[in-house]
Amino acid sequence: MGEPLRVGIVGLGNILGQYLEMFSALPDVTVVAVADLDAARAAAVASDLGATQGSAARAVTLEDLLAADDVDVVLNLTTPSAHARVALAAIAAGKPVYGEKPLAATMTEATEVMRAAEERGVDVLCAPDTVLGVGIQTARKAIDDGLIGEPIAATATMVTPGHEAWHPNPDFYYLPGGGPLMDMGPYYVTALVHLLGPVVSVVGVGSRSRSERTIASGPRAGQSFPVEVDTHVTGVLRHASGAVSTLVMSFDAVATAASHLEVHGTAGSLAVPDPNQFDGEVRLAPLGGDGFAPVTPSAGYVEAGRGIGLYDWAENRPRSARVSGEVGLHVLEIMESLLNSEGRTVDLVTTAERPDPVPLTMCR
Ligand SMILES: NC(=O)c1ccc[n+]([C@@H]2O[C@H](COP(=O)([O-])OP(=O)(O)OC[C@H]3O[C@@H](n4cnc5c(N)ncnc54)[C@H](O)[C@@H]3O)[C@@H](O)[C@H]2O)c1
Repeated sequence: MGEPLRVGIVGLGNILGQYLEMFSALPDVTVVAVADLDAARAAAVASDLGATQGSAARAVTLEDLLAADDVDVVLNLTTPSAHARVALAAIAAGKPVYGEKPLAATMTEATEVMRAAEERGVDVLCAPDTVLGVGIQTARKAIDDGLIGEPIAATATMVTPGHEAWHPNPDFYYLPGGGPLMDMGPYYVTALVHLLGPVVSVVGVGSRSRSERTIASGPRAGQSFPVEVDTHVTGVLRHASGAVSTLVMSFDAVATAASHLEVHGTAGSLAVPDPNQFDGEVRLAPLGGDGFAPVTPSAGYVEAGRGIGLYDWAENRPRSARVSGEVGLHVLEIMESLLNSEGRTVDLVTTAERPDPVPLTMCR
């Protein structure tokens, strides 16, 4: 990569550990500053980093992190309602920003972020980067190599009874900006954009099974909290290529026997692993064959973890990023349009180029 990438992290909650684990395996990435609304949490994370990464990190305020000359890029791991606010502050400070999904809680906010970034000339990057792993990239290569013929359709299925079963503070999953589509949809919809290209229109229908949920674990176990979003969302995505994807995202159903993702073509069907993971087996059923058989991993970052998208951007600058804000904006418009559709076709105003494929690459 040349010069080490110096990262400032804002938002130090549940997901932070996965990023730090990946960065610890990448010698060219160093965390130099951390900030959180909870200053004690920031101090504890900075102190741990001093011990584990071999160089010190400072616990600072958001303002100080954005003003720091030694922060090359801001990693925004705050909750979705704060994504746009933190991104806009980073952009105003002239710093590129890589944010957790979704790009923002609403299209209005996300559009403002992208406009500000364009005016200031800084990059906006957006998770998920799981799509750069061996699972989705091997599936993509199988499609690009013609193993299923002409792609015609895909299905995406994510079913769980709800995150309150394990998350000690699950309220945000059931408020605007949450729900199964906004929370888990980014993995599936981003994967569909990588596999089949951009989407031109959607139709969606949603429902919710109950107006309250109960926390199952942690200090608030037994407490009820309100549900303000649809908790079962179904939809159909028409891709620019003509392919059609069907989506089921649910916090209301117990389990499914379906593959996370399937892509069907004129010459075969592909079972694609969980897009919320980097790895997993791709299986191909060729037309006239004996059913599904494994496809040898042939593309993507091997043994990657969250944060590989930031590394990929730094490695490939100034070429357009594979985990770009442009894709994040398109994915958010797809999701918001599904939620607003109420059974009517919604034509999309955004698009995104299908990101470049990732060759098989060791990253550790
Ligand atoms: N938890 C997971 O398993 C998981 C997995 C993948 C992605 N994500 C995504 O990661 C993001 C964070 O999720 P999480 O589970 O780590 O949340 P969390 O609630 O555990 O942590 C969020 C942290 O951000 C801080 N924060 C919020 N607003 C802030 C602001 N304005 N300035 C500074 N700090 C602020 C909070 O104090 C908190 O420490 C979300 O976008 C989520 O969708 C989470």
